[in-house]
Amino acid sequence: MDKNKTPLHIGLIMDGNGRWAKKRLMPRSYGHNAGMNAMIKIAEHAKMRGVKYLTVYTLSTENLNRPQEELDGLYGLFRKYFNKNIQKLYKSGAGVKVIGDISVLPDDVQNLLADGEKNSPENSGFTLIFAINYGARSEILRAVNLAIEKGEKLDKGAFDSLLYTDGIPDPDLIIRTGGEMRLSNFLMYQAAYAELYFTDVLFPDFGKAELDKAIEEYSKRERRFGKI
Ligand code: IPE
Ligand code: IPE
Ligand code: MG
Repeated sequence: MDKNKTPLHIGLIMDGNGRWAKKRLMPRSYGHNAGMNAMIKIAEHAKMRGVKYLTVYTLSTENLNRPQEELDGLYGLFRKYFNKNIQKLYKSGAGVKVIGDISVLPDDVQNLLADGEKNSPENSGFTLIFAINYGARSEILRAVNLAIEKGEKLDKGAFDSLLYTDGIPDPDLIIRTGGEMRLSNFLMYQAAYAELYFTDVLFPDFGKAELDKAIEEYSKRERRFGKI
């Protein structure tokens, strides 16, 4: 396998949990739980495939308008992941990072996420990035306001360092499950030259073979970056 054909950074829009549950006549929370299990397996497989960064779209700024009951269920899943599953990730030498405005989450969840980042191994070869209460528009506005506070004109490098993704290379491949063909406010600035891959597979059904298929498709794309 040609290493250059492996995306360094994959962005994953994990959509379709609710519909997956509905098909089984189960509550949406059942779908989110299945989605978390799928995410854990995908992260392991991405690491195994040589991917260095995987950004999982976990909660958008717009998702915060969902019923409180659904949000509470999602916070419960964050607690479970960051209390329990994260140890396995650390043991494998991988780390986590969180992007987004987590200040609106319950205090204990904020603390867990902060600890999760703090306890990550240094120089890890794989980073799992959770986008939580993340929205590209808020991210860009936040950076602009920080720039205004600095009171000086910025070049691209200086602007990039004001984004949540400071230090993280742009995504090479963005995958969206669940059949919709849109970005829904995910990494809009960083995805300027990302290859886009859409699949109808609902996220809880998105397994290793599905990720392999997306990487295979990516490896066949010709990335020109505006050149000829
Ligand atoms: C994605 O699945 C997970 C989150 C947005 C938290 P959805 O909950 O959007 O599932 P569908 O799109 O309703 O099936
Ligand atoms: C995008 O899914 C957000 C996440 C996967 C976290 P949504 O289900 O919220 O997106 P829309 O509403 O269909 O655009
Ligand atoms: Mg959805």
